[in-house]
Amino acid sequence: MKEHPIGIFDSGLGGLTVLKALRKALPHEHFIYFGDSANVPYGAKSKQTVTKLSCAIAAFLQEQGVKLIVVACNTASAQALPTLQKQCRVPVLGVIEPGAQKAVAMTRNHKIALLGTEGTVRSRAYEKAISRLSKKEKVFPQAAPLFVPLVEENFARQPATRLIAQHYAATLLRKKIDTVILGCTHYPVLKPLLAEIFGPSVHLVDPSDTLAAQVKSYLSTFHQARAIGKGSVRFYVSDDPTRFKRLAQQVLRAPITRVYLKKLSV
Ligand code: DGL
Repeated sequence: MKEHPIGIFDSGLGGLTVLKALRKALPHEHFIYFGDSANVPYGAKSKQTVTKLSCAIAAFLQEQGVKLIVVACNTASAQALPTLQKQCRVPVLGVIEPGAQKAVAMTRNHKIALLGTEGTVRSRAYEKAISRLSKKEKVFPQAAPLFVPLVEENFARQPATRLIAQHYAATLLRKKIDTVILGCTHYPVLKPLLAEIFGPSVHLVDPSDTLAAQVKSYLSTFHQARAIGKGSVRFYVSDDPTRFKRLAQQVLRAPITRVYLKKLSV
């Protein structure tokens, strides 16, 4: 299995922020990235729909022979992870647990804000994960549904995005939070702007590097890590590979040779 790729999926482009962290931690591994561009956004969909889409993607990734699946999408991790872990033949890791761990380690005043999609906020998955780790923390959730289309449209540096971010941050700042979980794969793209708005005394938690460390430790514990050679990524999307390629190159700041189309059968 060592030579097999790692599967990673997201509703669209956002999971590229997780892919970046994984490639940095695991430079010898091959990856298959699936972006469900036909069905993005997941954030406003029901748990049932998100689970059905996630299972279809996981089935495709397993057909490609992946040794492990990373659910980069917070919304899918929050709503579909237990079903995926039950149904898949390979291990499945999500982003919620690593995000919760990092936030609990970072906070000093035990007031943690969660920025996420409506689905992630509604699931209360972060609150549950945090309370399994510590009973002291108070979590203040804030759905930020407009961030996803702004990132997908490459609007990260536009004044409109700043105004919207200030609106979402206002209530949280009044609660005197000292830590903010970026509970959606798209939000790290807005990190410089959010860092400015929340100010230097607030930690911004991107779960992706903690997740990457977990994947690394999992692979080495089970002797599944590829220790030498250059890693690679193969990209699949469920709609419009050309558009994905253009935007993904901007997020990754690196060229992509090819993006393959794979329509999901759901
Ligand atoms: N990638 C998803 C997540 O991390 C958010 C985007 C969406 O709503 O599809 O929650």
